[in-house]
Amino acid sequence: MSSTIDFFISKFRENINREDEPGRYFVPRPYRNASVSFRNCSIGDFEKRRDILVNEAGLNAFMFRADMIPGCDLLSDSGTTTMTMKQWAQMLLGDESYGSNEGYFELKNKITETFGEDWQSDGENKSVDNLFIFHQGRAAENAMFTVLKRVLNGMGIKLEPKLGSGLLPMLKTRIESKLSSIKNRSGDSLDSVFIIPSNSHFDTTQGNIVDKGMVPLDLPCPEHIDDNRDFHFRGNMDVAEIENLLENEASRVPLVYITITNNTSGGQPVSIANIKRVREITDRFNIPLFFDACRFAENAWFIKKYEKGYSDKSVSEIVHEMFRYVDGFHISLKKDGLVNMGGALVLKKGSRVTEKYPGFKGSLTDYQIMAEGHPTYGGLAGRDLKGVVEGLSVVVRQDYLDARIGQIKKFAAGLKRYDIPIIEPAGGHAVYINIDKFFDGVETDDFMGVSITALLLIAGHRACELGTYAFGHYAGGKEIPPDPRVNYLRAAVPRLAYEDADLLSFVEAVKILFDHRDRIPGVNVEYGRELSMRHFKSRFSFKQ
Ligand SMILES: Cc1ncc(COP(=O)(O)O)c(C=O)c1O
Repeated sequence: MSSTIDFFISKFRENINREDEPGRYFVPRPYRNASVSFRNCSIGDFEKRRDILVNEAGLNAFMFRADMIPGCDLLSDSGTTTMTMKQWAQMLLGDESYGSNEGYFELKNKITETFGEDWQSDGENKSVDNLFIFHQGRAAENAMFTVLKRVLNGMGIKLEPKLGSGLLPMLKTRIESKLSSIKNRSGDSLDSVFIIPSNSHFDTTQGNIVDKGMVPLDLPCPEHIDDNRDFHFRGNMDVAEIENLLENEASRVPLVYITITNNTSGGQPVSIANIKRVREITDRFNIPLFFDACRFAENAWFIKKYEKGYSDKSVSEIVHEMFRYVDGFHISLKKDGLVNMGGALVLKKGSRVTEKYPGFKGSLTDYQIMAEGHPTYGGLAGRDLKGVVEGLSVVVRQDYLDARIGQIKKFAAGLKRYDIPIIEPAGGHAVYINIDKFFDGVETDDFMGVSITALLLIAGHRACELGTYAFGHYAGGKEIPPDPRVNYLRAAVPRLAYEDADLLSFVEAVKILFDHRDRIPGVNVEYGRELSMRHFKSRFSFKQ
């Protein structure tokens, strides 16, 4: 009897978590669904969806009614999380006092617990603290760059009217091409133009920087465009480029950013080695280093899994180490805060940003009071803060992250099974289909990502074009493609929301399009080509 049971135990063991065939073998599911929401649409209503798409949405996925999506809504992983029962329970306990409510103090403690002891407040002045709450990530970005520009202007910094001669030619070209999108810039002189480099800025971050008259500059590592399955840190920053930029233009660079994980480069992680190296370089020039930290826990999971020397550390220990190297961060809590709304800007104790830019914290506090509300609630209800506190406890759990990133891996493997070209290895929150490769050998138009997105909506699924339309722009009567070129369709997976089988139905819809890619029509841009952040607002029609 016992040897028979032992036989089955050993057989069951062989079936667990096998990496060779993701999706086939048993992967522990650390949670069960505790609440569901019904939709009122039918899978067979293809014509109805086509009509909504053409007449109401102008082929723009952002404008398409979510309640008419019977399949997977993979437009974004942001704010689309299914919250846990404990989060809902905490929300019922929300303290809705006007200022300094219970949730605020719990969140302050949670920030220290999550990111490390360095993230306590300075304590030198209780009304000017280190935690600035915002209603979402982009509100924190807007505050960051509005205040930074205000402080820089106040310091009266005079910059050279031309770029340094030692600057790498491709950096020079990239900076000059970005200048054309900056508002209110008069003439060619660069004497007031600051540059904010990053491994890759997210589109709203880029939009916020441009809006304040500064240049967002992406410096992704050379491997970010390779299809190199063995290189796991394709979100890294190009170390040679940041070094060259600072050697030549340090006075023009008030801050350096690293986005973890690198959403624009495919949700790819950044290694500790890269973060450390960038820190060493920014230290040489006394420049503050910041994270755009939306997916910090997913980034830490990759470090544990793939970076040498980290396999024995817990996700939390790795998060503490990552955050030791930066002076501050902003975060959209709609991702790794595991909530539907929320954001924050956090400054490290004794942060270089406050040393270098006196008045920054005070000005940020004033901005926040005027734009979002008292710093202790910053646009969020007391109950929202409780939800974030509980969300931050869950997001660093090993079992949660194994299931989360394991699901993305299975989704990617499903697409690969049909040779659909994706960024490999897949990142932590999404699968990115390479549009240029998807149409390899087929004559196409400029914005085929928009066409695929529209056809997927008819099929019953939603994804997001992040390519030549989202990141390109229109200037001087012509299209300027993104530089470096990015042309992807992003299928971002909401946290704790879908089953693996749902994602495989999305794969089947993409396969139909892939098999008939020579028949996919291009699109006309009917409205909004010249607008900033145009992919949120534009309208299209299918070419006949
Ligand atoms: C890397 C990154 N930064 C910033 C943001 C903006 O956050 P929010 O949507 O909360 O404004 C996002 C949102 O997707 C993001 O992915």
